[in-house]
Parts: sequence; C-alpha cells; structure tokens
Amino acid sequence: MKALVLAGGLGSRLRPFSHSMPKQLIPIANTPVLVHVLEQLRALGAADVGMIVGDRAREITAALGDGSAHGVRITYIPQEEPRGLAHCVRIARDFLGDEDFVMYLGDNMLPQGVADIARDFRARRPTAQIVVHRVTDPSAFGVAEVDADGRVTRLVEKPLRPRSDLAVVGVYFFTPAVHRAVDAIRPSPRGELEITDALQWLVTRGHDVRAGVYTGFWKDTGRIEDVLDCNRELLDALEPAVLGEVDGASELIGAVVVQKGARVVRSRIVGPVVVGPGAVVEDSHIGPHTSIGRDCRLRSAGLDYSIMLDGATVQRVSGVHGSIIGRAATVTSATTTGRKRLVVGDHASIEVAA
Ligand code: TTP
Repeated sequence: MKALVLAGGLGSRLRPFSHSMPKQLIPIANTPVLVHVLEQLRALGAADVGMIVGDRAREITAALGDGSAHGVRITYIPQEEPRGLAHCVRIARDFLGDEDFVMYLGDNMLPQGVADIARDFRARRPTAQIVVHRVTDPSAFGVAEVDADGRVTRLVEKPLRPRSDLAVVGVYFFTPAVHRAVDAIRPSPRGELEITDALQWLVTRGHDVRAGVYTGFWKDTGRIEDVLDCNRELLDALEPAVLGEVDGASELIGAVVVQKGARVVRSRIVGPVVVGPGAVVEDSHIGPHTSIGRDCRLRSAGLDYSIMLDGATVQRVSGVHGSIIGRAATVTSATTTGRKRLVVGDHASIEVAA
C-alpha cells in the first residue's frame, strides 16, 4: 500500500505562523506534525510516500529530504494552487499507479494510530474505507451516515442538522477505483474538487465504501487552539529524560525532558514539559504542558500550556498561558518606561493586561 500525504494548502487559519512556515511543520511536543504523520505511515507499512506540496515546498523538502531519516521514501508532487483534496489524488495518479493507497492530511494528528482500520481495509478491500470519529458537534465537519454493517450510505459536508455524530477524519484508504470518481466530479461551489464528492460518487454508484471508527485522540491542527490542545495530549505521554544540564538549585517535577545541550538554572519545571536542544532556562517557572523549542531563552519567565518555537526568547514576563511564540520572536517586559512597545507581525494576536 502506498501513501499520499497532503502538505500543500494555504494554512490561513494558522496565521501568523503560516506566513513564515508551512503549517504542517508546526512542532507538536517539539516534533513537526509531518514527522508524526510519517511515523504513523511507517507503522502502517506504507513507507512509499507521495507528498503533495504547494508554495512552501522548499521548506518541506529541506525538513524531510528523501524521508530516509524517518524510514520512508518520499516523492514530492507539486500542486500549483490548492484546488481540493480530490485534485491532489488526480495529480498523484502517476505516482499511485494501480495500487491501493492511504491518503493522509498532513495536518491531522491521530496519535493512537489506525492500524486496526488499515487491517480491516487490507482484509476486505472495500472500494474505499474512511476513518470516522464520534464528536459532540458534527456540524463543523464532513459527516458520514453509516448502516449497522459499517457501510457508508451518505456523506454530507458541514450539515446544519447532522444525522449522525461520525465526523470524517483526515485519513482515507482507497483502491484504484477512486481514480474514476475523482475524474468524474466537478468543482464545488467553493471551487475545489472535494474528496467528499468523490466518495459520494462511489456510494451513489453502489460501491462498497466503509467507515472504521477511530476512538483515540484526533485533531486537525488547523487552528492555534488545536495545536495547543494536541501539544497537551502528546506531552501527556512524555517519558522523563535529562540529557542536558540541570543545576542543583532547580527542581523538575513529573515528566520533564531536557534535551541535549539544554541548560536549566535556578528554575522550577512542572511536567509534562520538553526543553529543546540548546535552550537556556534561568530563574523561571515552566509548565505544565509546555514545549520549548531549540535554542530558546527563558530568563525570569513564567509560562504554562504554551509552545515556544525555535530561537524564541521570553524575559522578565510571567503568567504566559495558552500562547505560541514564533521562531526567534522576543517577549520581554518594559524595564524603565513602563510603556508597552510592540512590534507585531501580520495577523498576530496579542493579549496584554490593560
Ligand atoms: P485544509 O486544512 O482543509 O486547507 P488549508 O491548508 O488551505 O487550510 P486553511 O483552511 O487554514 O486555509 O487542508 C487539509 C490538508 O490538506 C492540509 O495539510 C493542506 C492539504 N491540502 C493540499 O495539499 N492541497 C489542497 O488543495 C488542499 C485544499 C489542502
């Protein structure tokens, strides 16, 4: 089984970060989302990966190369503009050939994996097998209506009155019959070739389209809140390890990872927390549920439930919560004037005490 990973798109919901990096490279527990995705694919035995890339192709290829560091082989497939998930299948036709494949949205996180659903797909080989997840408010998702036997009877995109609580997750298993469906459909009102339409095309023509229920944690990391929530979930599984330096005046409580070359001085860290390679934490209070990227600097800082991307600095500021601080960004308190001086990038969002 081959894999098709979708790592193009605009990422507009993840601004400002997506202005300067593809959203699929946002780190969750200090590892880019796409690396988590590749690990899942390797576990499924789908190591021959076609990767759809858009404007941000250069950064993605620089980060992942040929995939060998992650035990997979990547073929990059450029998409000129985001024209829909089914468009991605169309342009990957040569790569996919006549093989079965798993399509994985490059911003989706399913840490518990879908091995059982992949096993079902391989054993029964329905035309397509989607992955669904029970949610309390399905109206924000593609929703699958499924009969008692697990067969999909209808798919509806963001229904006002959902007739099932099964949201369609960003992982799909296909046999080559899907190619006829993606060739047959026309762009939707928003101008995209929708995978839901291709699946509905198959259902309408009597093909066996099945749904496997995933019961683990699922997030589409498209928005800031989702990234933080996903970070919390992954950190909850963290095993403590100190590979860097921690001085005698510091206290580490719970699952704390101090990566190589990091230094913790006169600080208190309440896990789960990961401190990235080369980071320096001094006179600070951190955690829980916080990821500190490579070469970050924290001095007299206090933060929890947050993510600092590589090279960021927080100095003399405490009470930072639910925040993501961009690469090489600096957050510091005014020393003398008491005035607030802000250099805020496009689409950034800052909340300060009045
Ligand atoms: P989305 O999150 O639906 O689209 P987006 O990246 O444009 O995000 P936003 O709504 O915030 O602007 O896409 C899901 C995944 O599929 C994501 O990893 C991007 C990828 N994708 C493509 O590779 N090509 C496409 O044509 C589309 C629509 C998405």
